[in-house]
Amino acid sequence: MRVGVLASGRGSNLQAVIDAIEAGRLDATIVLVLSNKKDAVALERARKHGLTEVFLDPKPFAGQPDSREAYDRAVLDVLRKHDVELVLLAGYMKIVTPVLVKAYENRMMNIHPSLLPSFPGLDAQKRALAHGVKLSGCTVHFVTEGVDEGPIIIQAAVPILEGDTPEALAARILVEEHKIYPKAVQLYAEGRLKVDSRIVRVSGAS
Ligand code: GRF
Repeated sequence: MRVGVLASGRGSNLQAVIDAIEAGRLDATIVLVLSNKKDAVALERARKHGLTEVFLDPKPFAGQPDSREAYDRAVLDVLRKHDVELVLLAGYMKIVTPVLVKAYENRMMNIHPSLLPSFPGLDAQKRALAHGVKLSGCTVHFVTEGVDEGPIIIQAAVPILEGDTPEALAARILVEEHKIYPKAVQLYAEGRLKVDSRIVRVSGAS
């Protein structure tokens, strides 16, 4: 299965997927890592593992009236050129437009550091602590037009600890992210995910 990863930052989830593939736990090939940030650590990680990296500069698109859509059309061109079957958003700090969402309906995943539908958007861990929840975690979901709103594939729960800080909580959640993202991709690769309106049915689930 040909996977394309979109990432803007440190790329630890990308690394988790690379590691799972290299360890034989995930039947997939990363054919492309694309970033909107030239200096993204994710691109360095791709390079280190001999993967194709693409920096797609958003600047030339900025003046256009539909700049976000125009950028996504360019992203889509790159994804299609590499015959990408499944797209993974991994710390991709750009809201994807319907241009990409429609082209990759139920074939694009995202990972988010909260138990969705609680705390979508930025600073999820900080907002979870400020709200006083006792349990947080992370979610892998299919991407739809609403930010962090798509059908949920896998979640992992992480308890809040006494005296927790956003950084400490984020670090504990990240450990779980690195487990569930490769798992979700493997389920997809095995053809075990069926989206039934907003419910993801996992066949053969134990
Ligand atoms: C992760 O916490 C992920 O859930 C969120 O952005 C962060 C990306 O981290 N969407 P990394 O770049 O994968 O290390």
